[in-house]
Amino acid sequence: MLNFEDDMTPATAPAGVRMASMGIDAALDANEQTYTIASTSTGRIRVEDKRIINSNADVNQLVPFKYKWAWEKYLAGCANHWMPQEVNMSADIALWKTPNGLTDDERRLVMRNLGFFSTADSLAANNIALGTYRHITNPECRQYLLRQAFEEAIHTHAYQYIVESLGLDEGEVFNMYHEVGSIRDKDEFLLPFIDVLTNPDFKTGTPENDQKLLRSLIVFACIMEGLFFYVGFVQILALGRQNKMTGAAEQYQYILRDESMHLNFGVDVINQIKLENPHLWTPAFREEVRGLIQKGVELEYRYAEDTMPRGVLGLNAGMFKEYLRFIANRRCQQIGIDVLYQGATNPFPWMAEMIDLKKEKNFFETRVTEYQTGGALSWD
Ligand SMILES: [Fe+2]
Ligand SMILES: [Fe+2]
Repeated sequence: MLNFEDDMTPATAPAGVRMASMGIDAALDANEQTYTIASTSTGRIRVEDKRIINSNADVNQLVPFKYKWAWEKYLAGCANHWMPQEVNMSADIALWKTPNGLTDDERRLVMRNLGFFSTADSLAANNIALGTYRHITNPECRQYLLRQAFEEAIHTHAYQYIVESLGLDEGEVFNMYHEVGSIRDKDEFLLPFIDVLTNPDFKTGTPENDQKLLRSLIVFACIMEGLFFYVGFVQILALGRQNKMTGAAEQYQYILRDESMHLNFGVDVINQIKLENPHLWTPAFREEVRGLIQKGVELEYRYAEDTMPRGVLGLNAGMFKEYLRFIANRRCQQIGIDVLYQGATNPFPWMAEMIDLKKEKNFFETRVTEYQTGGALSWD
């Protein structure tokens, strides 16, 4: 066991090892480029040397910026800061405790929603902090990833806060990703792609490994954050639109706003890596990505069926089949691959307004739209 009084840094550790122990550079052994800069180069940063992956530029110097979109998203994320305990949950608590306040189907929907999300954001945080962060060699992108990691912690906090407020069985909720098949299947699909990046032996720098990183980034942004969250978001926001569970719905609205930004950042990173490394974007790779997105749609649809075995709130699983196809097409377009489902339409146009809080002035008649503490939102 570690003793905090132990000296954990050998006095004779070489410079490169000390840098690695600071979490600065995971790619240094395989590529040596960051090792070289961190240990021997003392030259000033040139913008043209900055790259998203396998960069030769010192990752400790934030400026001069190359990717202004990354810095702007960092600023927008900070401007949208919120905390779960600032949301009033008293109406939710009263409704939940009223025997006929919600139908059994509505309660099932809330429980399974929390069951998926309560652990999903921990998976997301681990993916960023233990995986993605190490392999992205650009400081303005890392700055955003640090903000994103904290937002994932806030989301986990939000689900915990809802569970605690409603007096739910926390063991039942937080262990659902082991116990409920439709939730477990989504996470089991994701885990191999997270494991690639969190494996301490994984390094970028070869076409094969760079494709592995790109594949994992696409799965995380476009399938996890871009598809697997959306049935749950629609369900809880639909409850809110019917004036039920409005505190939970307000929290989900903040989370949806954050996740939209995460998705857009992920898409920007993916497209920039493609631009800088066109050899990775082969026809076979693009086809593989289409197959993964298709698999994601199937898994999310199964989750929709499981959480809504009958129609509820004017929603039914069939509507989500169309919605997921519509969203999947959008994800394909965002990263530049052929759409999967020609002609799919959006059965929930109001979701677009949920994402852009500025358009929805008095949705829950809370301070949602007034929350921003400064700066400006940019969604595209
Ligand atoms: Fe999240
Ligand atoms: Fe996220």
